Amino acid sequence: MAFDIIGSREKAVAIIDKQEQLEKILKNYKHVKSVLLKLGPRTGKYRKYKLKLIWGDKNTEVIHKEYGYKLKLDPKKVYFSPREANERQRLAKLAKNNEKILVMFSGIAPISIAINKKKNCKITNIEINPDAVKYANENVKLNKLKNIRNILGNVKEVKLRGKFDRIIMPLPETAYKYLDIALKYSKKGTIIHLYGFSDKNIEEKIKKFDNLKLIRKTKVLPYGPWIYKMRYDIKVN
Ligand SMILES: C[S@@+](CC[C@H](N)C(=O)[O-])C[C@H]1O[C@@H](n2cnc3c(N)ncnc32)[C@H](O)[C@@H]1O
Repeated sequence: MAFDIIGSREKAVAIIDKQEQLEKILKNYKHVKSVLLKLGPRTGKYRKYKLKLIWGDKNTEVIHKEYGYKLKLDPKKVYFSPREANERQRLAKLAKNNEKILVMFSGIAPISIAINKKKNCKITNIEINPDAVKYANENVKLNKLKNIRNILGNVKEVKLRGKFDRIIMPLPETAYKYLDIALKYSKKGTIIHLYGFSDKNIEEKIKKFDNLKLIRKTKVLPYGPWIYKMRYDIKVN
């Protein structure tokens, strides 16, 4: 049975699927100070889990550590997945120094922080959940980074100036519906990293745009029986 532990050696929170997992967590993970039970899948526009505290400290804010950077968050208030740490590293490897990058649906800014810890890029984040933007601003400071700006707003409504070299779209349920907006901020050669589910015919959706060319698709994580969360790398012509 799967569970997630978010935080650090000093203080962590466990997120479990079944009440029966509680005993094992308390026995094996002494740094866990709170246990949250998932009451269902992620829902709503903020893509949060409905979570119930079943053990420990009511304050579930933690500082999660991965790959040499820190991410402050409260899993009750924002989306965050520690399982995507490797994918963040893959994106950081693909980004090139001095690129202008747009991260739509940026959450607490883990992707932008992973990239800017390795590459010197100018990154713009857009996120609709005010709690996530509050943490994103704190996380930029916590990691002593300078070139990340966080915009609170709906990707459909925010108006930006200029074009980007790389656009990251990490909202697998519906990101393909925002491809027209990504195109507004693209130029010839822009790379778009679109996330989606393997059973949703994303390739057909990409083909509808004459100037988009799928250059790579990568399995990110298993999502359900025979379904994967995928990353589609697309070049703008
Ligand atoms: C799957 S989460 C990914 C968050 C973050 N990129 C990460 O990797 O942890 C998607 C995020 O998109 C935000 N979101 C959903 N619809 C949005 C919209 N129309 N404009 C801006 N942000 C949106 C949600 O609040 C959520 O934080």
